[in-house]
Amino acid sequence: MAVYAHITGWGMSIPEKILTNHDISQIVDTNDEWIRTRTGIEQRRIASNTQTTASLATEAALKALRMANLHPSKVDLIIVSTSSPEHIFPATACIVQDQIGAVNAGAFDLSAACTGFIYALNMAAQAIRSGSLQNVLVIGSETLSRIVNWEDRNTCILFGDGAGAFVIQASERPGGILSAVMRSDGSGGELLTLPGGGSKYPTTRESITNGMHYIHMNGREVFRFATRVMAQATEEVMESSHLRKEEIDLIIPHQANYRIIESAARNLKLPLNKFMINLSKYGNTSTASIPVATCEAIQEGRLKEGDNVIFVGFGAGLTWGSLAVNWTGPFETKPEVHVWNYSNWARTRSFVRRLRRRIEGMIWGRNGDG
Ligand code: UT7
Repeated sequence: MAVYAHITGWGMSIPEKILTNHDISQIVDTNDEWIRTRTGIEQRRIASNTQTTASLATEAALKALRMANLHPSKVDLIIVSTSSPEHIFPATACIVQDQIGAVNAGAFDLSAACTGFIYALNMAAQAIRSGSLQNVLVIGSETLSRIVNWEDRNTCILFGDGAGAFVIQASERPGGILSAVMRSDGSGGELLTLPGGGSKYPTTRESITNGMHYIHMNGREVFRFATRVMAQATEEVMESSHLRKEEIDLIIPHQANYRIIESAARNLKLPLNKFMINLSKYGNTSTASIPVATCEAIQEGRLKEGDNVIFVGFGAGLTWGSLAVNWTGPFETKPEVHVWNYSNWARTRSFVRRLRRRIEGMIWGRNGDG
């Protein structure tokens, strides 16, 4: 019997703090009119001192599990797609695993920049269809405000913080994730990069003086690349999922620039109202932009059970991709799972495990022989 991968839960987490274009014009030489007309962005959200990529991811994940009515202990795998992980290692996904109490899950981060959420969804769907996993949590989370140079008007106007999460579940019922396209072109790697802090350019005084710990971007070239691949990837995934243009209910593109989405709509000969666009409120939240836009499309009644939706994105790497979904919504399950209560228990469990490790370390000493 064939197994299908369905999206059964979704959730988002957006910081409260709003930074408007006017606010940014007090920091760098720019203005509201320039930002609006060149990008469509009006404001973005900025993480507070206590919010991190993992904390936003955890909140989005718990909301998605709540929606799917799935107990965290039933999650088999957590994939966090991010370009602003908490650390090089451990993976941000492991921090989320601990915080939500997903005691039976594997966890890893996926680095494919703004295309990451599409890559991660496809990996989850493949694992489910192969029969090896039942329930996968896919999260896109970013705190880009921490890696942006607030003196560089080419980049700091664009980005924002946020997270979105989907629960993907196995079922014999046809539908769900239909097909995907994943592409890359490493020859364009230097067009959008955070060069420092890795093994090639470890953090040194010099790397910091040269601003290598910030995002660097050739905006014009990325723009040209994006307008080329968005329509192409959408057409490719329509073909591989055997969907005709008339059968597409909604396209949810990566929210980078209004003009890029307009150009994709023109190239596809589709009206702009077929596209979900919310970048004016959040800016470019990289890999979080597609799940956040999906949550809002559902809230606004623009995406319903049975609809055919296409996700399409591009980003650093260079990477780009698309994914076609016959939208499902939550499976009917009982009894109600108390995800939030359980996560409080998970935090206590985490504390006890850390404490036990410390006490054992003291008792057994350095050599483990007492
Ligand atoms: O997730 C992927 C992330 N990256 C992207 O999606 C980026 C894609 N690229 C873009 O969205 C656009 O290229 C930008 C919005 C970044 C820039 O728009 P543009 O129309 O390509 O502008 P430009 O870079 O060609 O710059 C035009 C002018 C320049 O002045 P001169 O050289 O013509 O005198 C810039 O110095 O605008 C100037 N400029 C600004 N002016 C006011 C650049 N940034 C700003 C700014 N405020 N923030």
